[in-house]
Amino acid sequence: MRTTDTSDDRRPAEPLPVVRLPEFTRADLDELSGNADDPFGIAELPLEWRSKDEHFGIRRDGRLVAHAGLVTVPVSVGGVRTDAVGLGGVIVAPDLRGRGLARAVVTAAVEHARGMGPRFGLLFCLPDRVPLYERLGWRVLEREVLVEQPGGPAVMPLRCMWTPLREGAHWPPGPVRLLSLPM
Ligand SMILES: CC(C)(COP(=O)(O)OP(=O)(O)OC[C@H]1O[C@@H](n2cnc3c(N)ncnc32)[C@H](O)[C@@H]1OP(=O)(O)O)[C@@H](O)C(=O)NCCC(=O)NCCS
Repeated sequence: MRTTDTSDDRRPAEPLPVVRLPEFTRADLDELSGNADDPFGIAELPLEWRSKDEHFGIRRDGRLVAHAGLVTVPVSVGGVRTDAVGLGGVIVAPDLRGRGLARAVVTAAVEHARGMGPRFGLLFCLPDRVPLYERLGWRVLEREVLVEQPGGPAVMPLRCMWTPLREGAHWPPGPVRLLSLPM
């Protein structure tokens, strides 16, 4: 018989499969985050974001408990235009954090991204999330990054991180400008 999950259940999470989701709606985010006002902690930043095209999720007893999204974004690096796979919308249900669900859903998304074509994955995050993504193989991009906003290019106030999607891919030198809203 299955044990009913409770919010104070601190057992290690059983391995749960990552599945492709057809979409990730505001209602999904509200359910996943427990109707948090500011689920990603970035509401105060004056930034417009873009939606993601591909969605990965983990369900536990039918409930969506983790999500990561991907979208191909154009980027200029050192004056050369290329594409990157943007990772965003990474979130785990508050009562199930610290059990490896972000690792599982981000790892599955990055595995998928390896087949999408671009050589690099790219993400933006608050400084206190950097160690988490470093654990997952991402590296800080130690330079200013411009992103598109409705009023024109703006300096991204969040940390930018990248990960190679192909063997031996190294982030090229030179100014970095995302030619799209950030993800
Ligand atoms: C950030 C968030 C997604 C992490 O989810 P999680 O399920 O608790 O993360 P995991 O348990 O999978 O942790 C992944 C790894 O990062 C490590 N880690 C997590 N937080 C860390 C921290 N603050 N510092 C260092 N390492 C950290 C874990 O130890 C784990 O490493 P390991 O697998 O090698 O042991 C979750 O806290 C969340 O949903 N926060 C709100 C939304 C948000 O901020 N999303 C990120 C937007 S960029």
